[in-house]
Amino acid sequence: MSQYNFFLITFLVFTLYFLSLTLSKQGKITQLTHRRLWNTILLVSFLVTGLLGLILAFSIDAKLSLSWYLPFLWFHVEFGIVMALVSIFHLIWHLPYYRQIFLKHKNTPSS
Ligand code: HEM
Repeated sequence: MSQYNFFLITFLVFTLYFLSLTLSKQGKITQLTHRRLWNTILLVSFLVTGLLGLILAFSIDAKLSLSWYLPFLWFHVEFGIVMALVSIFHLIWHLPYYRQIFLKHKNTPSS
């Protein structure tokens, strides 16, 4: 359990993402299916990472000694890596939203 498999997870996530993107560009799956798939992966990875993270933080601060602390920490990091990588794809999809916010602010007079 000492290894977090960062490189393997990164390779798998990127490979599956570009496979799904290619299938959607070729019309073999719709863009909606592609997005639903990755939004669902983001949701599940966020729920596992976030909930385990909260349980870990709580148990540290409450000074609870959990026999399953290390397995929880391991799953937290595995899902955390998936979540952080998929968040990058998600952010790229929504860049126009942020570009609009920041460009608007830039063009607004400061008075
Ligand atoms: C979603 C919100 C998150 C919360 C609330 C959270 C919380 C925590 C907590 C409480 C610990 C244990 C700290 C300790 O043992 O002193 C931890 C460790 C860690 N977390 Fe998170 N975390 C979050 C997201 C992430 C994400 C997205 C990643 C991405 C990879 C991540 C990676 C790690 C790593 C690498 C460790 C250290 C593991 C070790 O000590 O072996 N966390 N986190």
